[in-house]
Amino acid sequence: MSTGEDRVVTIVTGAASGIGAACVRRLAERGDTVVGVDLAAEVDEHVRTLGGALGVVADVSSSEACEAAVALAVERFGRVDHLVCAAGIERNEAAHEMDDDTWSRVQRVNVDGSFFMARAVGRHIVAAGRPGSVVLIGSINSAIAMPGQAAYVASKGAVLQLGRGLAVDWGRHGIRVNVVGPGVIDTPLNARSFADPVRIAYYAGRTPLGRHGEPSEVAAVVAFLTSADASYVTGAFVAVDGGWLAGELPPSRMED
Ligand SMILES: NC(=O)c1ccc[n+]([C@@H]2O[C@H](COP(=O)([O-])OP(=O)(O)OC[C@H]3O[C@@H](n4cnc5c(N)ncnc54)[C@H](O)[C@@H]3O)[C@@H](O)[C@H]2O)c1
Repeated sequence: MSTGEDRVVTIVTGAASGIGAACVRRLAERGDTVVGVDLAAEVDEHVRTLGGALGVVADVSSSEACEAAVALAVERFGRVDHLVCAAGIERNEAAHEMDDDTWSRVQRVNVDGSFFMARAVGRHIVAAGRPGSVVLIGSINSAIAMPGQAAYVASKGAVLQLGRGLAVDWGRHGIRVNVVGPGVIDTPLNARSFADPVRIAYYAGRTPLGRHGEPSEVAAVVAFLTSADASYVTGAFVAVDGGWLAGELPPSRMED
């Protein structure tokens, strides 16, 4: 076992639930020192239960909170090598009924939060002169829209372009930046949908693999993208969606 000094340090936001929690578990299992960041007060306990090293309560929509979380990780563990931005929120509301606060909050958490965390980690990695990587969790909604989700799809489209912008900026510093686009994944974010059998049947029918995904299946791709196996992958959008974005299915399959 390596010492704390030479272990890879990875920060995961949204670490207390769903995809972020699965990333904490997966990356800790491979030996990373994982620092989880989340709004949830119990994040430290949760992250340690998953095998992570530390959980930090922070709101990623605050640039100061993001800077402080990264500074704390560097202070405690000496370095940061990888960042996974999984903190995110969704609001279902018709565009013409949406108020300013709903629109802004979704952009602030999903877009500003990804940028603030990536900037804080990028600054550290550039100064350290070591290679590193960032994975932003986008969505199939980075590429396509669904009704009632104007704020969310706008934010996820921006996350995709943010990832590309960072990849182009930071390639010369050896920082790879990729965007993962999950399809329908069984997490608390989707609790309402998963409680509705009609909706779940529609999702399964609409997905070429015929089922929803598990958070661990997204975490496996995040693990690849933050590994040396992905050393020539940057600026990519990797859908983890059971084939959703590959195309439409014929009506017969939709009725299965
Ligand atoms: N579940 C899906 O089907 C699905 C599909 C596509 C994309 N995504 C994306 O994956 C990411 C993770 O989603 P999930 O399904 O695991 O959701 P989740 O609700 O299970 O987990 C999200 C976590 O982010 C945290 N969080 C929310 N706002 C925060 C903030 N301001 N600061 C810090 N932490 C904050 C929450 O406390 C929560 O622990 C999100 O970006 C989401 O948009 C999810």
